[in-house]
Amino acid sequence: MKYQEAALVAQQILKKETTTRDEKLQELCDYLEGEFPLYDWVGFYFAAQSDTVLCLGPFSGEPTDHTIIPFGKGICGQVAVSGKTFVVDDVNAQDNYIACSIDVRSEIVVPIYVNGKNIGQIDIDSHTADAFGDEDVLFLEKIAEEVALLF
Ligand code: SME
Repeated sequence: MKYQEAALVAQQILKKETTTRDEKLQELCDYLEGEFPLYDWVGFYFAAQSDTVLCLGPFSGEPTDHTIIPFGKGICGQVAVSGKTFVVDDVNAQDNYIACSIDVRSEIVVPIYVNGKNIGQIDIDSHTADAFGDEDVLFLEKIAEEVALLF
């Protein structure tokens, strides 16, 4: 139920006519981070420089040094290449992982497709291990589809 309600609120945020795209994405990050206790950092990365790097977009949570991530590097960079949602139950068990904070224990990265092209992603970190289940995957993939409509 919570996911359904949150999906509706997210839709309302993304459909506002009075705000820019970045303002909508910022509001969405702030909403998700505030609404879901296990979502400790919520942000967007977008492909740039002819699909060689990801650049940090709007985010909610602690500032990160990783504003640019090469394709293939870390969980985000792997999703930029694979185009598939990546759920990491325990970040410490991952070799190809970029730590943004020592507090992070689990992570989910969901690609955003526009006209069949993977243009970026939603990245969520949690300070709790195993924080992301099937419902989170479905919910966030739906949100990624709504975000894609802004492009
Ligand atoms: N952990 C990510 C880097 C981005 S931060 O989580 C904000 C990764 O391994 O790609």
